[in-house]
Amino acid sequence: MSQTFDVIVIGAGPGGYIAAIRAAQLGLKAACIDEWKNAAGGPAPGGTCTNVGCIPSKALLQSSEHYEHAALHFADHGIGVAGLSLDVARMIGRKDAVVKQNNDGILYLFKKNKVSFFHGRGSFVKAVEGGWEIAVAGASSETLVGRQVIVATGSRARALPGLPFDEERVLSNDGALRLGSVPQTVGMIGSGVIGLEMGSVWRRLGAQVTVLEAMPAFLPAVDETIAKEAYKAFTKQGLGIELGVKVGEVTPSADGVRVAWSDAKGQAHTLEVERLIVSIGRVPHTEGLGASMVGLQLDERGAVVVNEDCRTNLPGVWAVGDVVRGPMLAHKAEEEGVAVAERIAGQHGHVDFDIIPWVIYTSPEIAWVGRNEQHLKAQGHAYKAGTFPFLANGRARALGDTTGLVKFLADAATDEILGVHIVGPMASELIAEAVVAMAFRASSEDIARICHAHPSLSEATKEAALAVDKRTLNF
Ligand code: FAD
Ligand code: NAI
Repeated sequence: MSQTFDVIVIGAGPGGYIAAIRAAQLGLKAACIDEWKNAAGGPAPGGTCTNVGCIPSKALLQSSEHYEHAALHFADHGIGVAGLSLDVARMIGRKDAVVKQNNDGILYLFKKNKVSFFHGRGSFVKAVEGGWEIAVAGASSETLVGRQVIVATGSRARALPGLPFDEERVLSNDGALRLGSVPQTVGMIGSGVIGLEMGSVWRRLGAQVTVLEAMPAFLPAVDETIAKEAYKAFTKQGLGIELGVKVGEVTPSADGVRVAWSDAKGQAHTLEVERLIVSIGRVPHTEGLGASMVGLQLDERGAVVVNEDCRTNLPGVWAVGDVVRGPMLAHKAEEEGVAVAERIAGQHGHVDFDIIPWVIYTSPEIAWVGRNEQHLKAQGHAYKAGTFPFLANGRARALGDTTGLVKFLADAATDEILGVHIVGPMASELIAEAVVAMAFRASSEDIARICHAHPSLSEATKEAALAVDKRTLNF
């Protein structure tokens, strides 16, 4: 006799585990199935984000930033560090411990919320009376029935055509997060989010990093002022960034990888590196899900087709997170998971796709929400802009980190905030104020009139809001 659940979630990444917990909070009998295994073969819920994404990358970014500070910046504070050394195995071990804390935390949350967890692959079998039969293939095999099913199977790294990841020489995010030593040279294909974050980690630890990017512009999705400032900072730090590149033949060998590439002028070059990290985007993960068994509609990229409410073409089947359209971000997946659980429970779950923040955790950090200046110009939207540099912020000077600026964009007539863009220290934290302000449809004048603690980086946000009306006080 199969166990029946009100909701079965397939995938325990941030989209899936949060959906299962929210469903259980709302009194629904919820199950979550996930196949990710830890090194010992046990369950490792949390998906890409916890195991090979957000969490381990931020752990290594933190460690490598400490190292770089000790090597380059402590002296400015009068602190001498003699015999500075690097223990990569310990650094990776710490990162693994942080990942495990998160895996264990999710298992604890499942217990606390009475979510039944199944470790194995979940796949659609057939429609049954009042729901869907889902097979679990893992340590033990089971058949479950879900009245409603949420697909949250995430994404995987996209490989270059004809160049599969071997995770030894040619690395995805997975291999890039567990190198046993610092390579002398690292090549990166793609200067997107992973390229910049992982490139920063290995550069800070001593590798010579060269990034080959196909687009002629650096970070074209980012506001141009911010992208320009970030490019200046990264190249000054020693990150080699080549734009407008066409990657040709890539040849892995026993001791490295050779990449033939041509520059924007068509001139041919060769890059020889110890390791090559390919970060050219991610693709939705639906293999083994049994989509074709039940006629679940996928698009040409393999993404599950959903409407704005995350409903698929099948009754009672929903999909959230990286496996559907929209930005591939953990917090976007979580918001969709919560909204779907609430819709299933008869509530009115809602995600505001216009105010999803983005953060790139480099140094300086890059963060933004809403529309950028290029968007507004293209849309012919009349706007006012205000910027404030961290150079003029007391806290940034005290921190010794004055790179970057905050930029506000507001409607020319109503002053409503249309976008906020930050490059600089703690941009990841500062952006939250802008998201809240935009959620409440605040004007730049609102932010300009709110008292911000002194000395704090957030004063740069207030000053940028004042700059919209050309009345900065400290610049
Ligand atoms: P996933 O996290 O991919 O989880 C899907 C889960 O489903 C996996 O555990 C998988 O094993 C499981 N699964 C798949 N198929 C089945 C099946 N048939 N049966 C059972 N289980 C199955 N986003 C941010 O917002 N901030 C960041 O800082 C950030 N950093 C990142 C760094 C890196 C290096 C990478 C690669 C990504 C990063 N992301 C970040 C993106 C973020 O990881 C994803 O957007 C997020 O994980 C998507 O969540 P999800 O639940 O949709 O899918
Ligand atoms: P990305 O989409 O951010 O960047 C990929 C880059 O590769 C683009 O600039 C693209 O022009 C370039 N590219 C594509 N094909 C190429 C080719 N053949 N040759 C050279 N360049 C090529 O993808 P990335 O970095 O792989 O990350 C995937 C996703 O993971 C991100 O889009 C983001 O959604 C998520 N992520 C989020 C993070 C965060 O929120 N801090 C951190 C890391 C990843």
